Amino acid sequence: MKLLILNGPNLNLLGKREVNIYGNQSFDDYFIKIQKKYPEIDMEYYQSNSEGKIIDKIHETGFDFDGIILNAGAYTHTSVAIADAISGITTPVVEVHISNVFKRESFRHHSFISPVCKGTIAGFGLKSYDLAVESFLNEQVKEN
Ligand code: DQA
Repeated sequence: MKLLILNGPNLNLLGKREVNIYGNQSFDDYFIKIQKKYPEIDMEYYQSNSEGKIIDKIHETGFDFDGIILNAGAYTHTSVAIADAISGITTPVVEVHISNVFKRESFRHHSFISPVCKGTIAGFGLKSYDLAVESFLNEQVKEN
């Protein structure tokens, strides 16, 4: 199984950024751990602060990867273009958020991408990504 973890703006600062909300682990460290936890999965990780690059990556992987785990950061709440990119591909996308966006400011309660994603996982810290991986593994079990 081939999965892409795709992180959007400011998520390169994980571990340093608003640690009370996002924790003190860098994504690079976390990515090493998650790869070890699921050695059977071919996992790629990409982060960009720019909307266009995120869209390019969705196009690039969206017809042959088995799944995309997307934390679009603040673009979640603003980007029709990312939602359209997800609608245009065949690979299923699971939306993740580290924080529970529904507990936070009201502008974080709306997601342009939720309606075009398979599901959404939010509020479990970096474990949200583990849960997203599990959701794809679960699907595989159902298919077999
Ligand atoms: C986030 C939540 C967004 O509202 C915020 O803009 C982020 C991170 C999260 O993972 O909790 O950058 O996507």
